[in-house]
Amino acid sequence: MLKTQDLSYWYQNANQPLFKNVNLEFEEGESYAILGHSGTGKTTFLSLIAGLDTPKDGAILLQDQSLKKIGLTNYRRKHVAIVFQAYNLFTYMSPLNNLLTAMAITESKHAGDREYATQVLRDLGIGEDLITRNVQHLSGGQQQRVAIARTMVCDARLVVADEPTGNLDEDNTQAVITQFQSIAHDQKKCVVIVTHELDVAAMCDHQYRLENRQFTKLA
Ligand SMILES: Nc1ncnc2c1ncn2[C@@H]1O[C@H](COP(=O)(O)OP(=O)(O)OP(=O)(O)O)[C@@H](O)[C@H]1O
Ligand SMILES: [Mg+2]
Repeated sequence: MLKTQDLSYWYQNANQPLFKNVNLEFEEGESYAILGHSGTGKTTFLSLIAGLDTPKDGAILLQDQSLKKIGLTNYRRKHVAIVFQAYNLFTYMSPLNNLLTAMAITESKHAGDREYATQVLRDLGIGEDLITRNVQHLSGGQQQRVAIARTMVCDARLVVADEPTGNLDEDNTQAVITQFQSIAHDQKKCVVIVTHELDVAAMCDHQYRLENRQFTKLA
């Protein structure tokens, strides 16, 4: 579904790219983990496939059409859902309104469906008592689950997450990864997760490590 074609990126110095001539393919219905030391460019890579930044060289293709051609704004709105480490929820809203707003903005096929949004939140352990509370008054793990719920109620086929379990305990980590696997396997979306945790990566269908400016397939 999503392909990188000789993708290269650097911030200041073209002679020291973070990665160079990367050719990778990501399929729907599959989950991918990206590992790598701090500072190797994992977040940068996610921001490129999420359409938040543009390649310095090469291209990113969605179903053989370049993101450039699709248009980054259109791509971000319609085709990609992002879970940042800092959640990026609308902080002045409740979990329910976060989902309803995202569904409206992205023109999801579920737009306006409160019942559906409530059910998805409930499935992730965000019950009646929490769905109308301001998200700032939720715990980190609860906010993270709202962010994941938000990707589930939108139609975007690509879900990218930057260290989604970075500050979760073991139980919450397990729950979050199970949810991402369900997004891939049941919703048939493509899930790309950056993580430092080997056991989190092991729960994904495919693992890559970013080192020496290249992505190496593990196992
Ligand atoms: N806007 C920027 N301008 C210049 N350099 C940057 C910018 N953003 C990141 N960098 C540098 O690019 C490199 C890669 O950053 P990136 O955030 O992609 O790493 P990462 O692999 O996600 O690291 P971590 O595991 O610590 O999150 C780092 O050396 C970082 O300092
Ligand atoms: Mg990072």
